[in-house]
Amino acid sequence: MKQLMLYCRPGFEKECAGEIQDRASSLEVFGFPRVQKNSGFVLFECYQQGDAAKLVKSLDFKSLIFARQMFAVAVELTDLPREDRISPILQELSEADGMPMCGDLRIETPDTNEAKELLKFCRKFTVPMRQALRGKGILFNKDNPKKPVLHICFVEPGHCYIGYSLPINNSQFFMGIPRLKFPADAPSRSTLKLEEAFHVFIPREEWDERLASGMWGVDLGACPGGWTYQLVKRSMFVHSVDNGLMAQSLMDTGQVKHHQEDGFKFEPPRKNVTWLVCDMIEKPSRVAQLMGEWIISGWAKEAIFNLKLPMKGRYDEVLQDIENLKVFLIKNDVKFKLQAKHLYHDREEITVHVQSLSNISPY
Ligand SMILES: C[S@@+](CC[C@H](N)C(=O)[O-])C[C@H]1O[C@@H](n2cnc3c(N)ncnc32)[C@H](O)[C@@H]1O
Repeated sequence: MKQLMLYCRPGFEKECAGEIQDRASSLEVFGFPRVQKNSGFVLFECYQQGDAAKLVKSLDFKSLIFARQMFAVAVELTDLPREDRISPILQELSEADGMPMCGDLRIETPDTNEAKELLKFCRKFTVPMRQALRGKGILFNKDNPKKPVLHICFVEPGHCYIGYSLPINNSQFFMGIPRLKFPADAPSRSTLKLEEAFHVFIPREEWDERLASGMWGVDLGACPGGWTYQLVKRSMFVHSVDNGLMAQSLMDTGQVKHHQEDGFKFEPPRKNVTWLVCDMIEKPSRVAQLMGEWIISGWAKEAIFNLKLPMKGRYDEVLQDIENLKVFLIKNDVKFKLQAKHLYHDREEITVHVQSLSNISPY
């Protein structure tokens, strides 16, 4: 296998391509990305046979910022006949080298408007395709979340890429997108950004401990309150910092204190804050520095924040800001975990999560 498929937000193929090129070469896998603007995917062509399989195993998916999903391509099929797409897929897959037996099937498309129509077909196609794959022994008879995932990605009705990802090193979500429902009582659609960040960065089994009721959070750039809403919904108390107006529904909960102050100058009145979240529209380098200061002073244990992307040089800016933040934390002897992702609900921004693993007293 020589090709690696990566899904991304349409319009961010260049960033996704730059990132895979850098990261693959750091693992001594050499190749080049094929990029088609606004296609919603990037194909990384490795020079050496077997290298795509190496990447799905060794390239830590969580560490990729711009890729929503990655899988090794075993087969590319073009000109599939409308009347019978299943037979040629089965034929090619049973002859494909290195294709493991899979425990789950996802029939997907890139996330573009044009592909939306195709998605309806993908849904209908899944049941007969699954049965046929099981019949051929390409898919286990029962869904098995521990086994590789078989991806069939249709880019056109008769054109698809087929391959696999590993469940310990992929996105658990169909098309790499968590499906979240907008809560009718939330004050802004931005609320979904923070909810998605929780799904992507915090393992579900740790939610009760790390996003626990009674904790204190600080929300910088909070108005009208979509992010504060997520914390309140989890029964936390929140200092919401912004000169704007907070939704009355949130103030009525009694869990929110609104501070009409500059987020760069705000200090929590008591040093009992677990969560810092920040969605201020500000220079990304300034925001990253501020987040570092909070973590280093022990004012918060975990932070989730957006870095707004510039018009040009988006990939370089992100790398630089994250690198500076890491160096800042390391120089101050903070042990930490950091993950950054261009989430589905992010547009011209990425979301970063930092968890301090050091026990720093805030006093
Ligand atoms: C994208 S909005 C936040 C939306 C919010 N997360 C939500 O879900 O409703 C950005 C906010 O950042 C605030 N902001 C920008 N610079 C700020 C600063 N220096 N201090 C405090 N708030 C700031 C703006 O007033 C604005 O309300």
